[in-house]
Amino acid sequence: MNPRSQPRLQWLLFLMLFLVSLFLHFHTSYGDVGTAALYSPPYLHTACYGSDASQFPSSNLFAAAGDRIWNNGAVCGRRYLVRCITSTSTPDSCNQNQTILIKIVDYMGRPPFAHSTYNTTMVLSNTAFGIIANSSTASSYINIEFEQ
Ligand SMILES: *[C@@H]1O[C@H](CO)[C@@H](O)[C@H](O)[C@H]1NC(C)=O
Ligand SMILES: *[C@@H]1O[C@H](CO)[C@@H](O)[C@H](O)[C@H]1NC(C)=O
Ligand SMILES: *[C@@H]1O[C@H](CO)[C@@H](O)[C@H](O)[C@H]1NC(C)=O
Repeated sequence: MNPRSQPRLQWLLFLMLFLVSLFLHFHTSYGDVGTAALYSPPYLHTACYGSDASQFPSSNLFAAAGDRIWNNGAVCGRRYLVRCITSTSTPDSCNQNQTILIKIVDYMGRPPFAHSTYNTTMVLSNTAFGIIANSSTASSYINIEFEQ
């Protein structure tokens, strides 16, 4: 090998390692932090799909979007990875290590959604909330990390 190309090769290697670590960093971290509450049936009609019940995922993992992510309905059908995170004031609020994939099917910024939940990022279906939140705690709000 031409010895003069050695430093360039090292640079390339360094650059590659840097890019890989950057990728890993963003790959393992979550996009955004917000809050979530629970919403209960009836789930129809939805703001996204009207009375079309076939749009609910068979996993029953779905959510209604709050104003922060609703974006005039553009968020309909989007899927988010959602994970419950604890804070020092709510150390027991999560079932640990549970991440779910939910689909946005509705908008929560209007009745019949409870006014007290308008300020959350999203409200989760019974099934979704039950998986990531600790049902033994009284709190009806959880902190979440979510990523599209
Ligand atoms: C769920 O909440 C109960 C009551 O606060 C607590 O004892 C338990 O440790 C919590 N579970 C988890 C996984 O944090
Ligand atoms: C959650 O994950 C951490 C790190 O992987 C592990 O140490 C811990 O035991 C897990 N907790 C549960 C309840 O599975
Ligand atoms: C949303 O607003 C209600 C009523 O003001 C309040 O009780 C609740 O804690 C708020 N929730 C969040 C997640 O900020």
